[in-house]
Amino acid sequence: MSNVKKILIINGPNLNMLGSREKEIYGEDTYSSFCEKLTEFVMEKGAQAVIFQSNCEGEIINRIQTSYDNTANTSSEVYDAIIINPAAYTHYSYAIYDALRACPLPKIEVHLSNIYSREEFRHKSVTAPACTGQISGLGIDGYFAAISFLIK
Ligand code: DQA
Repeated sequence: MSNVKKILIINGPNLNMLGSREKEIYGEDTYSSFCEKLTEFVMEKGAQAVIFQSNCEGEIINRIQTSYDNTANTSSEVYDAIIINPAAYTHYSYAIYDALRACPLPKIEVHLSNIYSREEFRHKSVTAPACTGQISGLGIDGYFAAISFLIK
């Protein structure tokens, strides 16, 4: 994927609790240090990242809808690609799936933990089929891998 200069990184519910939430699964980084590392990595690659976190399904959908040029996007801001960790919405949000399907940008779904080695309900991602690819279980390195793929 070339010409990707501006990436929207969307993090879903409870990811703002990184650093205090189930550290043995999600690691020690606080959400703010996690975001700093992502921003720095993207900048080193000569691109720009905007990181958005929400605990609300509708806000995530609004952000996806306003990431590219369409009638719902009244701002002039558009992105070249999306990295999304829909968190628990991964497993049941057909609304986020539909928003991703409608979005023509390259989209990578990322999970910090390996969703396939955890509880049964996490084994299914309803959102991944709407994405270009999925990375699961590599911690923050999964985000770095997605960024590298999009920018290369
Ligand atoms: C997660 C995995 C989801 O199952 C969970 O609900 C999360 C985080 C991950 O990054 O590993 O909140 O998306």
